[in-house]
Amino acid sequence: MEIKQFRYFNDNLGYLVFSGNEGMAIDAGGVDAILAFAAKNSILVKYMTNTHFHSDHISGNAELLEKTDAQLIDCRKIGDDQSFTIGHEKIDVFTTPGHTMDSVTFKTKGFIITGDTLFNGTIGNCFSGDLLAFFNSLKRIISLPGSTKVYAGHDYVMESMQVAKTIEKDNPFIDEYIRRYDRSLIVSTLDDELHVNPYIRFNADSMIALLLKKKMPAQTEFDRFKSIMEIF
Ligand SMILES: [Fe+2]
Repeated sequence: MEIKQFRYFNDNLGYLVFSGNEGMAIDAGGVDAILAFAAKNSILVKYMTNTHFHSDHISGNAELLEKTDAQLIDCRKIGDDQSFTIGHEKIDVFTTPGHTMDSVTFKTKGFIITGDTLFNGTIGNCFSGDLLAFFNSLKRIISLPGSTKVYAGHDYVMESMQVAKTIEKDNPFIDEYIRRYDRSLIVSTLDDELHVNPYIRFNADSMIALLLKKKMPAQTEFDRFKSIMEIF
């Protein structure tokens, strides 16, 4: 399965996932760019869907449906562990409630599309208010192989790394992560995230030591997740 990233509204990131001559548009805000890429590569947009139903992510839905014969898959109705066939390959979807209750994550062998659940460098706001659900969603994502590439819903890399430095000023991996920043393609691996993204570092020895030093709750993984969320 291949993937092409499309930036729109400055920091929003949408995608065309494709195999052979079929594709699935996900958070298709940059409609013209997606259609130009699809036409150039003889890709038929078979499906159109979203990572969650926030206005910036669904902004291209109507136009894309008008300009193509794509079938709309309403992400609010996607069940857990559903999959869709594109070309001769499959893309799986699992529910990742937290940022919103309708948030989903798309998964193929090599990459995931995480919307506003996990960003490169940070995590989304827990607008649902269900912090435990959010934590469990993140746990499920980080249980995937470390080499899995993370394609998120926004480019917040630089701001995120400033926050990461505030939380863990001695983390040696942050500067390297910043050096690799390339505005034309925002991607990292889960392994990269586990080294720099403070919100999923609740099992890192240095993070646990830091929480203990701050006398913050650090007994369970969830305690530590909540404590890190409180630092910044
Ligand atoms: Fe969102």
